[in-house]
Amino acid sequence: MGQDTFFISTPIYYANDVPHIGHAYTEVASDFIARYRRLRGDDVFLLTGTDEHGLKVARAAEQNGVPSKEWTDSLEPRWREVWKRLDISYDDYIRTTEPRHYEAVTKILQAVHDNGRDDIYKGTYEGLYCVACEAYYTEQDLIDSKCPIHGRPVEQMREENYFFRLSAYADRLLEHYAASPSAIEPEQRRNEVLGLIKGGLQDFSISRTTFDWGVPLPWDPGHVTYVWFDALTNYITAAGYTSDPERFRRLWPANVHLIGKDIVRFHAVYWPAMLMAAGIEPPTQVWAHGYLVVGGEKMSKTNLTGIHPFELLDHFGVDSYRYYFMREISFGQDGNFSWESMTERHNADLANGLGNLASRVLAMLANSFDGVVPEPTSPGAESDLPAVIDDALRRYDELMLKVQLQPALVAVWDIVARANHYLVEKEPWKLAKDPANRDELASVLYAAAETLRVLAIAIAPIMPAAAVRLWGQLGIEQPLEEQRLPASGAWGGLAVGTTTTKGASLFPRLEAN
Ligand code: MSP
Repeated sequence: MGQDTFFISTPIYYANDVPHIGHAYTEVASDFIARYRRLRGDDVFLLTGTDEHGLKVARAAEQNGVPSKEWTDSLEPRWREVWKRLDISYDDYIRTTEPRHYEAVTKILQAVHDNGRDDIYKGTYEGLYCVACEAYYTEQDLIDSKCPIHGRPVEQMREENYFFRLSAYADRLLEHYAASPSAIEPEQRRNEVLGLIKGGLQDFSISRTTFDWGVPLPWDPGHVTYVWFDALTNYITAAGYTSDPERFRRLWPANVHLIGKDIVRFHAVYWPAMLMAAGIEPPTQVWAHGYLVVGGEKMSKTNLTGIHPFELLDHFGVDSYRYYFMREISFGQDGNFSWESMTERHNADLANGLGNLASRVLAMLANSFDGVVPEPTSPGAESDLPAVIDDALRRYDELMLKVQLQPALVAVWDIVARANHYLVEKEPWKLAKDPANRDELASVLYAAAETLRVLAIAIAPIMPAAAVRLWGQLGIEQPLEEQRLPASGAWGGLAVGTTTTKGASLFPRLEAN
C-alpha cells in the first residue's frame, strides 16, 4: 500500500492547448499542498504532465506538416516553462507519449481484457461527435445543434470499437464510497458522483479506428486506445506500474488526485472501476476544486482561457500570484478572478501586511542595533505573540491536511495582523528615542523578529521565493529548507546575535491599473 509516501497528482494537461490561469490554478493548489506536506516532514511525490494523444493533436500536427510526436515535442515545453515560473516543485513529469506509458496502458488493458469477466467487448458506436472535445454527444446535450462546450458543429460518426463494461461496477463503486467517506471531496462532488452511479452507468468506448495517434490495443492493434484508458493510466505509469514495482508499492494507491470539477466523472467513476477491473486498488481520494471565472474591468473582455499566467506573473510576481488564487477563492467553490481584486489583495495582505511588518522590524533593528538581534530581557513574555503563533500554526496544520487552503492562509495571516498590532501597541519607534528604554526596545524587537522567522517558515509553501528572501534578510544560518513544522515554529528559535539586513522591500505596492 502506498502509505510511506504522500502521492499527490494533478491532471495531465492537453498538450495542444495553450496554458491559461485555470490550468495554473490546479497546479498551484497541488504545489501548495505538496510543499506544506514536505514542510511537516512528509515524504511527498508530486506528479504532473501532459496528455498528448488523440485526434485533435493528430490533426494539428498534420496541419503543421510535422509528425505527431514532433508536434507534441514542440508543445510540451510551453507547459513546463509555466510550471517553472510558478515554482511548481513536481517530482515527476509524465508525457503520455513516453515508452513507460505505452507499457502501462498496454498492461492495464490486457489485465482488464483477461480478467475473465468479459469486461472489454466489441460493439458499434454511433453518435454525434465533437472533434474539439474528442467526445460523442446525445441530441439533448447539444445547444442549438452545436457542441455545448465549443459551440461548433458536431459530426455524425459510426465506428466499430471496444467497450469497457462500466455498468457492471455500480455496486462495487457504491461499496467503495460507502467504506471511504472521504474518497471524494468536497461533499457536493461526492453527492454528484453517488447520483451518477445510482442513476445507472453506461459502458464506455475505449478505442478508435478513425485515427491512429495513440496506444494500440494489445489484442487488436488496428485500434488505438481512446482518451480515458490512456489519460487516467498516467497516474499508475508514473507510480511505476510497469517500470518499478518497488516504487509502485510505495506510491500506490495515490493519496490525492487533485482535479477540477469538470473531470470528476472520469476520476471518480471511470477510473476506480477501471482499476478494480484490473485488480488494482483505487486512489484514496479525489479532490475536485471549482472553476475560475473572470470578472472586473480590466480583463472582462478576455475569456479566461485567453489569460496566460505570464500576463499576471509579469505584473504581480510569482508569490503574489500564488497567494492571490489560494487566498481569494474558497477551494472547492467556483471563484471570480479580477485584476482589481488581485491588486487589492496584493496591497492589503502583502505590501501593507507582511511586507510592511518585515520592513519596519528590519529597519528598526538596523537603526537601533546595527541589525544584530538583541538579547531580550523578557523574550516575548510580555506579548501574546507566542500563544498566537502556536494557535495559528495548529489551525494551519489542521486546515492544510483537510485541503481547506483558504482558511489555512487566513490562519497564517492572523499572525501577521497580530504582529503589526503589537508594534502599534508598543511603539518601538518611540522607545528608540530614549536610551532608558533600550531593554524594552530589545524585547519588543526580538519578539517581532522572532515572529518574522516563524512567518518565513509558514509562508514557504505558498510563497517559496518570498520566504527565501525574508529568510535571507533575517540572516539565519540554518537553511530554510531544513526547517520543519511544528518543531521550527517553537518560540525562541531566533538566535541572539544573528545579523539581519534591511534589504529590498518584499512586496512593493502596486498601482491599481
Ligand atoms: N487532459 C485532461 C485530464 C486528464 S487527467 C487523467 C484535461 N486536461 S485540461 O488541460 O483540459 O484540464 C486540466 C485541469 O485544468 C483540470 O483540472 C481542469 O479542471 C483545470 N481547469 C481548466 N480550466 C479551468 C478553469 N477555468 N478553472 C479552474 N480550473 C480549470 O481535462
